[in-house]
Amino acid sequence: MGELALIADSVSKVYDGNVEILRDVDLEVAKGEMILLWGRNGSGKTTLLNLLGCMDTPTKGRILVDGQDTSRLSQKQLARLRLRQIGYVFQSHNLIEDLTVRENVYLPLRIAKSKNAEQRVKSLLKTFGIDALSRKRPNEISGGESQKAAICRALANNPSVMLADEPTASLDSESCGIVLDAFKMIRENFDTTIVVASHDPLLYDHIEKKYFLFDGRLKTEPKEV
Ligand SMILES: Nc1ncnc2c1ncn2[C@@H]1O[C@H](COP(=O)(O)OP(=O)(O)O)[C@@H](O)[C@H]1O
Ligand SMILES: [Mg+2]
Repeated sequence: MGELALIADSVSKVYDGNVEILRDVDLEVAKGEMILLWGRNGSGKTTLLNLLGCMDTPTKGRILVDGQDTSRLSQKQLARLRLRQIGYVFQSHNLIEDLTVRENVYLPLRIAKSKNAEQRVKSLLKTFGIDALSRKRPNEISGGESQKAAICRALANNPSVMLADEPTASLDSESCGIVLDAFKMIRENFDTTIVVASHDPLLYDHIEKKYFLFDGRLKTEPKEV
């Protein structure tokens, strides 16, 4: 295995002193790899994504992003890491309704005070085939197109990791195809690592490398799911 973009090292998570949602989870994701986290509702998929994306901290264990032990970082360093190294795509696109597609994709670049932001936005929208929609607002485009715009926004700062939490759950099957195409596009054009959490059978059939969450454990075999 090449360089590792993400490592979960014996990670456990307990909310409010209750049951352990994740128990000693070990995961290694190589640079440029795409994996699926599969598990039913409540199995801890979002919890694990939030830990991998440094939006939450493990009760036990460590998360490493690009080889960096995130437990050693200050809040400020973590915020910087989330902005520059992690892209997040949610179940519903979460675009800002008052902003155009272009402005939505521009936002993380502005926050990061990125140079050549205009150029980056243009090239992303073109790569994903939504440049014609750049001046439209989210309510003027389809669900699949919105999710593509959300993927562009997640990739704006050229993160090393993109985390997608049930990215097709609010879409019809045709739009799901659009999202799958977008993932394929990412793999062909960028070296972004992609972690998808889902229980959508369509994604199951199209993402080769799978991990299964049940009883708080992460397994490589689907038994009992
Ligand atoms: N912030 C939280 N506080 C307390 N319990 C939580 C919190 N977030 C999730 N949970 C619980 O953790 C379990 C796993 O949730 P989640 O990670 O959202 O699963 P999934 O994304 O697979 O549906 C659920 O039982 C849920 O109720
Ligand atoms: Mg979830």
